[in-house]
Amino acid sequence: MGRKLVAGNWKMNGTNADLKEIEALGIAWAAPRVDIVICPPATLVSRMAFALGGQPIRVGGQDCHAEESGAHTGDISAEMLKDAGARYVIVGHSERRADHHETDEMVRAKAEAAHKAGLTAIICLGESLEQREAGETLDVVGRQLAASLPDGATASNTVVAYEPIWAIGTGKVPSVEQIAEVHGALRAGLAERFAGEADGIRLLYGGSVKPDNAAEIFGVENVDGALVGGASLKSTDFSPIVSALESSL
Ligand code: PGA
Repeated sequence: MGRKLVAGNWKMNGTNADLKEIEALGIAWAAPRVDIVICPPATLVSRMAFALGGQPIRVGGQDCHAEESGAHTGDISAEMLKDAGARYVIVGHSERRADHHETDEMVRAKAEAAHKAGLTAIICLGESLEQREAGETLDVVGRQLAASLPDGATASNTVVAYEPIWAIGTGKVPSVEQIAEVHGALRAGLAERFAGEADGIRLLYGGSVKPDNAAEIFGVENVDGALVGGASLKSTDFSPIVSALESSL
């Protein structure tokens, strides 16, 4: 099994002044067995990478274009993120799938671009409340997994984040049984397609992970860490989540 991972997704939050939250994350030294990534808005990637100095925390982007360069006003390529100091990039977050009409095919192309640039892609998927209530969760995430992951996915270049849309930013969290069911199905889906790599591809849970529920979530089988939104913005919330993962090992 690979190392466990906590990734923070700042979304469209954060200016220069917030880099102090990173400097306050002395926690990295206290969690030597856990990988830590922060994905700030693109404007901060370079400065954050610099601010982290020698701290064992990686920086990630929140999206990338599928092409390397060209006439795509406002977009950023995986190469550019790499050049700015990023090691990871989130692709296919449900907010981008909704706001920017991103399809599984587009997400797969972005993940391929990330791999080509040498970045680890954090590929997000998850069902809506309507799909959950209709009993379609495993079908939906199975389809997303099959269509959003490129053939070249390996344990080192790919992380999958299960994020039920209804749990994002809502304070609602699936039961441990529900998380275990989906993560078990995702692991089986990975095993079918990626054989030897499947166990090493990390499966993160995301959606309202907080200091008070992190330990319970990290105890669930096939949960290799978390993708954290709101609670990644303040070091006082993020640090205890990282500590909970370290203590679960
Ligand atoms: P949340 O967001 O932790 O604020 O629910 C998670 C995410 O969208 O990655």
